[in-house]
Amino acid sequence: MSEKPPRYASWTAGKLPLPELAEMKRRGEKIVMVTAYDAPSGRLADAAGVDVILVGDSSGMVVHGRESTVPVTMDEIVFMTQWVTRGAKRPLIVADMPFGSYEESDEQAVRNAVRLVKDGGADAVKVERGGTTVQRARAIVGAGIPVMGHVGLTPQTATVLGGFKAQGRTAERAQELLADAKALQEAGCFAIVLEAVPPAVAETVTKALAVPTIGIGAGGGTDGQVLVWHDMLGYYDGRAPRFVKRYASVGEVIEQALAQYAEDVRGGAFPEEQHTYAMPEEELEAFRASSR
Ligand code: KIV
Repeated sequence: MSEKPPRYASWTAGKLPLPELAEMKRRGEKIVMVTAYDAPSGRLADAAGVDVILVGDSSGMVVHGRESTVPVTMDEIVFMTQWVTRGAKRPLIVADMPFGSYEESDEQAVRNAVRLVKDGGADAVKVERGGTTVQRARAIVGAGIPVMGHVGLTPQTATVLGGFKAQGRTAERAQELLADAKALQEAGCFAIVLEAVPPAVAETVTKALAVPTIGIGAGGGTDGQVLVWHDMLGYYDGRAPRFVKRYASVGEVIEQALAQYAEDVRGGAFPEEQHTYAMPEEELEAFRASSR
């Protein structure tokens, strides 16, 4: 008699277990994280062996053409998380909590985190900053939802930080950053993003924490790296931050393909016979006769 599959096998089959991230830190294996915003990009990130996908509110800028991440809504993140989870099976899916979805109260934070998991299908959520966010993270973790923290350059509150600038560049600010990261860990966060901080500071924070750090613009001493999909693939006509390494220029490839398509349509080179559907000759004759 064949063995019964475990009760939740179809849901969890092949998914990277969340505790594995801490094990990777312990083993000194780097964690690979990238943002994604739809099903095809989720599928490609999965096929490429990415460990964690962030459905980031960077979508507000790189996908939706806004000046900042601030106007991004819960509905947008829920929809994008649904799309990404349809494409990506193995990677852990972390949904960003957009600005205004967790600042008011623990109840608001838990309600919106639950929505991202229940309606969006996220495995975990991400919140920005230390300060009052520490208590929000504790409340969400208390509700049974894994939380990723994010310190350093926190785009949702970039105005307070003086713009999209590197952080933790004085001893005092670096100490504050370390204290925020430790407080988020103590609140139960399973990992912390360190954005735009000097490598030496990121390394010190990484050594001081038991949970993994994921760097972006934080040097090579963190436990993992994250990049924004459009920045790293050259699919964004804005100015990418200096810490981005561009691995492809898909924007150029797409523009060339579209220009070729336009030329083919205008010149009659497209469509060709192979792009059309055949019809039995007698049916065609009957159709022609009936339409005279
Ligand atoms: O929204 C996002 O893409 C992020 C990453 C830059 C970490 O928060």
